[in-house]
Amino acid sequence: MPKSNVFWHHATVTRPRREGQNGHRAVNLWFTGLSGSGKSTIAHALEEELHNRGCRTIVLDGDNVRHGLCADLGFSEEDRRENIRRIGEMVKLFLNAGVMALTAFISPFREDRERVRRLLGEGDFIEIHVRCSLDECERRDVKGLYRRARAGEIPNFTGISSPYEAPEAPEVVLETDRHSVEGCVEQVMVHLEGQGILQ
Ligand code: PPS
Repeated sequence: MPKSNVFWHHATVTRPRREGQNGHRAVNLWFTGLSGSGKSTIAHALEEELHNRGCRTIVLDGDNVRHGLCADLGFSEEDRRENIRRIGEMVKLFLNAGVMALTAFISPFREDRERVRRLLGEGDFIEIHVRCSLDECERRDVKGLYRRARAGEIPNFTGISSPYEAPEAPEVVLETDRHSVEGCVEQVMVHLEGQGILQ
């Protein structure tokens, strides 16, 4: 169907009305980092904290989304780009619904993350670099994936046989090989309060 035959329908219950009712802004907390760096652990711990303060939240993470919406995608550069594009569009829907979206994807390519930033708009996209050395991620190897990647059983494995492009100017950097989960959660909360995102 040509795009000219598709029309945008404007809602009367708008995002600002939803945000007003919720008592907080809807932003995207975009966690990026190597496999095993702690993205999902911190996202879920932060969600607990936000939920307990009455915020409307959702956590989207790579392993889960790849079971459904992105089940058709693998780990080639092209598939990862499409993965992140779909996540960006999904996050946009959640923000319009007034929900804070905490996203935990490796999202290894800078350009893909920047595309999401442009889609959502500056201020709505808070990039959080979950920084952890490859050595430490490999030492943790919670899922045994690094061992298998080193053995050549998993192609295109981030950090081993596929690149990870660290953010150049993320809003927050969490050093998970130096700080506890609680410390990292506190660091993000301080950022959100400082930005007036939580009232
Ligand atoms: S990406 O790059 O953002 O599209 O990846 P993502 O959707 O976050 O999925 C990462 C999880 O998939 C598992 N896995 C792999 N990761 C990296 N490279 C390869 N080749 C790979 N194959 C499977 C792995 O469990 C990742 O989860 P995390 O939570 O990052 O460890």
